[in-house]
Amino acid sequence: MEKKLKKISKRVNNYLNSYLSKFNSSELIEPMKYGLFPGGKKIRSKIIFDIGKIFNVNKRNLLILAASVEAIHAYSLIHDDLPCMDDDKLRRGKPSTHIKFGESTAILAGNSLLTSAFELLSDNNLKVQDKIKSRLINLLSRCSGQTGIAGGQYLDLSYEKKKVPLQKILNMELKKTGKLFEFCCVAPLLIKKNQKNLNTFSKIGKDIGLLFQIVDDMIDFKGITKLAGKKTKKDFKKGKATIISLLGYKNAVIYSNKLKQNIYNKLRSHDNKANDLRETINFIMERNN
Ligand code: IPE
Ligand code: IPE
Ligand code: MG
Ligand code: MG
Ligand code: MG
Repeated sequence: MEKKLKKISKRVNNYLNSYLSKFNSSELIEPMKYGLFPGGKKIRSKIIFDIGKIFNVNKRNLLILAASVEAIHAYSLIHDDLPCMDDDKLRRGKPSTHIKFGESTAILAGNSLLTSAFELLSDNNLKVQDKIKSRLINLLSRCSGQTGIAGGQYLDLSYEKKKVPLQKILNMELKKTGKLFEFCCVAPLLIKKNQKNLNTFSKIGKDIGLLFQIVDDMIDFKGITKLAGKKTKKDFKKGKATIISLLGYKNAVIYSNKLKQNIYNKLRSHDNKANDLRETINFIMERNN
């Protein structure tokens, strides 16, 4: 799995790097690249390729989907670390973008990465019909803005130091993390005009995202900063509302196993072609960063 992630990471980073290098005259390119490279695990990209494998999607198009998702993800991390949000100084094993370049530059580099995602999707390199392109752009917008990452981040911050019921926590995690995973699972199907599986894979995406965030919360709870590449044991100090803070660590583990089982059940009708996706789900659960 690590080898596969490395390979994907190299391809996605190369694509993003050559795309951004067209704009080297902008001073924002350096902080943008700092936030992007070498960049994290590339789990979202891996999922895009896993789904692509199940439905035989053109690899070049998958690569562009992955690049756009990683640009949005990098933006979300740069902003997530700002003093007005989680106030984190370490990200991906190095100083956060605002520590290195200052707050205003980090905000602008984040904004630019967000818009780069839509630039990448609307670019001629993505070889799909315009109608599909606009559906992809529409879906990615909804997964990023007020109904997605931004909306979820708002809830995450407003729930600090409050007792929040389970449904609200789940809704917050679904928005801030689940929606982008939903995009990863649905976008390859949109390219293939595969309506039949859209609903199931939209649910699978949301469940994987939720599972991913719960494990992220566990890593914060139990993990080691050096391995995680970001400061751990912060959620408790900040009073973050998580499944762990509400139900306790043990119940969070039980909950995550149930989610995994749900996802596996939905994949039952897909044969060996879904093994890569199953492998990614197991990796998500067992990772320590
Ligand atoms: C961290 O995401 C932020 C969450 C949504 C929980 P990742 O764990 O995917 O971060 P990187 O890309 O590997 O650094
Ligand atoms: C962040 O969740 C989710 C985003 C959309 C950025 P966290 O705040 O838990 O992510 P980390 O732990 O800082 O990576
Ligand atoms: Mg946060
Ligand atoms: Mg954070
Ligand atoms: Mg976290």
